[in-house]
Amino acid sequence: FTVVGTAFHTPERGQFEILENHLFGVDRQGRISDLLPPDHPDFEARKKAAAAAGQLVELADGQFLMPGLVDLHIHAPQWPQMGKALDVPLEVWLQKYTFPLEAKFADVEFAREVYGELVDGLLANGTTTALYFATVHGPATLALAEICREKGQRALVGKVVMDDPEQCPDYYRDPDAESAVQETRLFIEAVRAMDGGERPLVMPVITPRFIPSCTDAALEGLGALAREYGCHVQTHCSESDWEKDYVEARFGESDAASLDRFGLLTRNTILAHSNFIGEEDMDLIQERGAGVAHCPLSNLFFANAVFPLRKALDRHMHVGLGTDISGGYSPSLFDGCRHAISASKALHGGVHAGLAPAERGAPGEAITHREAFWLATAGGAEALDIPTGSFRPGHEFDALLIETKAAHSNIYLHRGDSLEDLFEKIVLNATRANIGMVWVSGRKVVG
Ligand code: GUN
Ligand code: FE
Repeated sequence: FTVVGTAFHTPERGQFEILENHLFGVDRQGRISDLLPPDHPDFEARKKAAAAAGQLVELADGQFLMPGLVDLHIHAPQWPQMGKALDVPLEVWLQKYTFPLEAKFADVEFAREVYGELVDGLLANGTTTALYFATVHGPATLALAEICREKGQRALVGKVVMDDPEQCPDYYRDPDAESAVQETRLFIEAVRAMDGGERPLVMPVITPRFIPSCTDAALEGLGALAREYGCHVQTHCSESDWEKDYVEARFGESDAASLDRFGLLTRNTILAHSNFIGEEDMDLIQERGAGVAHCPLSNLFFANAVFPLRKALDRHMHVGLGTDISGGYSPSLFDGCRHAISASKALHGGVHAGLAPAERGAPGEAITHREAFWLATAGGAEALDIPTGSFRPGHEFDALLIETKAAHSNIYLHRGDSLEDLFEKIVLNATRANIGMVWVSGRKVVG
């Protein structure tokens, strides 16, 4: 099919592009085949032909195309807990609320019910790609992978590994390292058997929850699987003082160095949080080509810290945004953009009002709405090494139709607004009400 209209995207960090009245050709596989400006000699003929074939989507006044959003860190089983239980520190939150909830996913029927609502809810919020932590349970995690495929969400799904009886409750953990690694292997094979094409929509991810939850044997076994299968890896890295100190005490080194020693720091690794990484960790992460999922909202709750985003961006590290549901309470990556901007503003100089202006923060830390949107789209896509996140020939057509004039919209349109102003208003004020249609690989999944 063919879409004609105006699109906004941020294909490179710091670069904002308006594709005004362009024609987007989408091939049978759901990829962008070509992109024509309105003065292209074939533009009118192509548009006419698409209309005649009943294959034209023409955007109306107030409608814009934007790339689908990429959530680099989200806990699927914590969906029922979204918006509650955030009144305690991380280590208490895990034991008191989160492990009991995740343990319920031993019941595959329960899992199917929750995961169906989760995927519908995220697609409606514009999340076209999600990197999921599921639970320790193989069957329920496979159910999540199947639901994503059925509903058409691009997803990377991990069976969580947590086998250390010192840190994980008996009612919720892998029985031992050997079975944790074997279950992960079976899960990888099952997902690849379900969706094994050249451009799979759903992919398996090796998922040690975090170092404190895993024995050395499990970490070693998962590192070997990462080498064998070459698939993605995800974990929590240097999230909180407690977690960082735990790893220091156990291994005498940082999270990043330990993960690397176990073979878990690769080009396909996404490290959630990474608030307390030092210069050496940054060097190592960058050398391996791994990425960071910046989770600004949950970092404020659990880490009492802000990820040093500007430093990471200046080095051209791979970085994207994660909602970290339910450590973060919002399913919306538009909210994620806003939280990333606010957090960066705090570092920039918004905190410590009692101090003199020059002592309040570091100038240059603040990010713009353009950079935030890049993180939520192309940045996340690059970190995952998946051709999505911006409109380019050859990229997947993962897109949102934004209705600025929707009912119940918070976007106030003023006649003096330029297209660039509208983009900023969308990034700062769009809600689910403004997401009129969603496509993933050219398949319409919302609207
Ligand atoms: N560290 C280990 N598990 C979790 C989790 O579920 N959420 C967050 N935010 N941090 C974690
Ligand atoms: Fe998390």
